[in-house]
Amino acid sequence: MGKKILLGISGGIAAYKACEVVRALVKRGDEVRVVMTKGAQEFIRPMTLQVLSENPVGTTTFDPGYESEIGHIDLARWADAVLLAPATANLIARMAAGMADDLLTTVLLATDAPVVVAPAMNTQMWRHPRVQANLVTLSEMPRHLVVDPDEGELACKEVGPGRLPDPEVLLQALDRAMSPQLLSDKKVLITAGPTREFIDPARFISNPSSGKMGHALARAASEMGAAVTMVRGPVSLDPPSGVDVVEVTTARQMHRAVMERAASMDYAVMVAAVADWRPADESDEKVKKREMTGQLELVKNPDILAELGARFGPDGDEAGPTLIGFAAESDDVVERARQKMKRKGAHLMVANKIGGPATAFGADRTTVSVLSEDKVVEIPLADKLAVARKIWENAH
Ligand code: CTP
Repeated sequence: MGKKILLGISGGIAAYKACEVVRALVKRGDEVRVVMTKGAQEFIRPMTLQVLSENPVGTTTFDPGYESEIGHIDLARWADAVLLAPATANLIARMAAGMADDLLTTVLLATDAPVVVAPAMNTQMWRHPRVQANLVTLSEMPRHLVVDPDEGELACKEVGPGRLPDPEVLLQALDRAMSPQLLSDKKVLITAGPTREFIDPARFISNPSSGKMGHALARAASEMGAAVTMVRGPVSLDPPSGVDVVEVTTARQMHRAVMERAASMDYAVMVAAVADWRPADESDEKVKKREMTGQLELVKNPDILAELGARFGPDGDEAGPTLIGFAAESDDVVERARQKMKRKGAHLMVANKIGGPATAFGADRTTVSVLSEDKVVEIPLADKLAVARKIWENAH
């Protein structure tokens, strides 16, 4: 469901990147209204933002045309969230002082929506104690979230912190700012992706798991305020921002990484498609074709969820995390998932049906049932991030 985002642009060289931010917001279905400071208009023209946002752009407080379209107080009320990108040292100082000397700062005082501040400036300016002190003031204000700038080469040719982060990082920060903090102070461990079981250095047994559902759950939990650790097998996804990632390859590595951390967690969510079997012998050298027999002896991998269930599950004797498992089934989905939940000792099970386009490996959308001891909640077809948020709403 699209949100109403007010994008405030102030006058730094990174102002041109605000165009990409508007495009990314519009692309995902958000409605965007842009307000520019006087300085921003030196770098980029309001018309560009008007075309991209498909809305009039606010530039001055006392513009009768704009005020009749949407007054500055209405604009402050309209927004579900405000994003300031780029936020210059000057804008940050004016905000910290509580000034209202242009349209943007006036709206900022009048809104009770969450505000995401994305500073971008020269490295020396960023490091200046006054700028840092102003940022502390902002981050201590209720509903304000400051996104640290990226490090790298800046327009002024200096190298260091000061770059505006990618649009995707800013969108994630907005989602975090708008999210109910259902998991604040909670620690969440998530497994994601496939594992690889090597036959020799050039061959392995694996599966087509993309890791998308595990990543969506990690991102949703992080947005809801949790400290998230994701143990993931080989996938080609960028980890969500703010999530601690442990990279593993084999089921045994995943098993070890989970067992080392599980006892101190509040939730352990096993989303990974762990290979159930591995070759009995792994050759250090590539096996020659002529040496192959056509037979491959396999041994069982540890069942991570079942092992956690025996310790921390409903019949286990140790206090520990709430255990959430996943079950992909082709028939009798809910009934089989319920049996699997009991067999593995999970507190909750997320069941999905294999077969059909929305359930194929790597799909962007899915539909699942969340099973607990006494009920089943159906989550309708939606993109995996929306489904992940619903899973947490039912699991926390
Ligand atoms: N799982 C695990 N370790 C394994 C295998 C599975 O932690 N070695 C977890 C998965 O991450 C998932 C749940 O167990 O949360 C169910 O996985 P699934 O492959 O459906 O379980 P299996 O025991 O392999 O079930 P089946 O009998 O259907 O093959």
